[in-house]
Amino acid sequence: MEKLAKLSYDGKSVEFPLVEGTENELGIDIKTLRAATNLITLDPGFKNTGSCQSAITFLNGEKGVLRYRGYDIEDLANNADFLEVAYLLIFGELPTQEQLDKFLVDIKEESFIDEDLKKILESFPSSAHPMGVLSSLTSALTAFNPKTVDIEDEEQLYRAIVRIMGKLPVLVAWVYRKKSGLPLKYGDYALGYVENIARMMFRKPNKEYVANHIVDQALNKLLILHAEHEQNCSTSTVRVVGSSHAGLFASVAAGISALWGPLHGGANQAVVEMLEDIRQDGGDINKYMKKAKDKSDPFRLMGFGHRVYKNFDPRARIIKKSANEVLEDLGIVDPVLDIAKKLEEAALSDPYFVERKLYPNVDFYSGIIYRAMGISTETFTVMFALGRLPGWIAQWREMRLNKEPIGRPRQIYVGKNQRPFVPLNKR
Ligand code: ACO
Repeated sequence: MEKLAKLSYDGKSVEFPLVEGTENELGIDIKTLRAATNLITLDPGFKNTGSCQSAITFLNGEKGVLRYRGYDIEDLANNADFLEVAYLLIFGELPTQEQLDKFLVDIKEESFIDEDLKKILESFPSSAHPMGVLSSLTSALTAFNPKTVDIEDEEQLYRAIVRIMGKLPVLVAWVYRKKSGLPLKYGDYALGYVENIARMMFRKPNKEYVANHIVDQALNKLLILHAEHEQNCSTSTVRVVGSSHAGLFASVAAGISALWGPLHGGANQAVVEMLEDIRQDGGDINKYMKKAKDKSDPFRLMGFGHRVYKNFDPRARIIKKSANEVLEDLGIVDPVLDIAKKLEEAALSDPYFVERKLYPNVDFYSGIIYRAMGISTETFTVMFALGRLPGWIAQWREMRLNKEPIGRPRQIYVGKNQRPFVPLNKR
């Protein structure tokens, strides 16, 4: 029997069908609401609003579950390559070896940038925020790749995907290198996707680059863990921009801007900044633990707790191990990272944090790893964008293939009622 939700108002009653997802999640399908009632719903921040039906990511915050296309995040992060996961997210299935090889080669064929784009990058002041630069350069790519994609043409769509998968890592590496005062260089065609990213970023002009397997593995995991998280702010932005039939590059550029904000992608930056502040203040962990627990003090331990994951962040469990491996392997001596370790230990055994189930989230550890790799705090979010790219592509592709209508929310107007115009000399 069809499940229905009944809405009663003003003596009238209307019924709406319930939609059930494959994990038994229920939603009320209100597509006909306005036509039937002339009412709209009001839901700032869209906390109760499903904007689409999606087959990409399943997330259950209460149970700490995160799955891409049905596969547990633990299985993917521990066994797969970032490029395999990207393929899975975008096309729906894990690739065969042949498909993966072709995907990598096709991406590599596109892993270069029009030389004129270098001029744009060079014209940014060195003080420019890396996320602003990345977003601008991604937008600028549209000028060098003007063709809009015919969504009905599978080959054209595939070409657009491999093009952006090939070019964004180059931009990311260049944004990082420009910020670090290093010469802009291309990668090595012979390397895998992630290994090439590490090389493009970390290669020094005065010595031969030697790959570090532990760093490559940690980077691989971080990119996988950040690859998708269903309808978050930047992903919704990509879908909404794309819903006007703007191209993939333009939609991704908008996603990068959305990710930039401190309430979204900037969390790992906030973690390291907090750790720096604690160090500069003498490194007294207990003082900051007390502040975090004091309800009259607005201070919160950055990197602890999560809006969606209320028991544990499955991504944090995976990356904690990598953080330890990277710190040990690189033999890092960094008082800020020592503070991080002590803070983690203190919070994990403190009743306030234990009772409220406030565990370190993925951004606590991702900030630590990126810092250990020598990536500047401002560039953390750029790495997040690189990881999120396949998720944005997958969501953009799904939205277009599902022929979703243009995103156009409504509003409840609360401004002035009609009033007569007052000429300038009478105001
Ligand atoms: N430090 C100290 N106390 C905290 C913290 C924290 N980091 N997080 C939550 N609490 C306390 C709250 O004060 C509240 O206490 P109470 O029950 O005594 O009032 C209780 O834990 C529940 O917290 P809420 O605020 O209800 O949790 P909410 O879901 O609203 O917030 C959030 C989640 C915003 C992530 C919060 O935990 C926080 O501010 N964390 C620090 C910032 C951070 O790391 N953000 C990035 C998260 S990852 C991401 O979103 C990409």
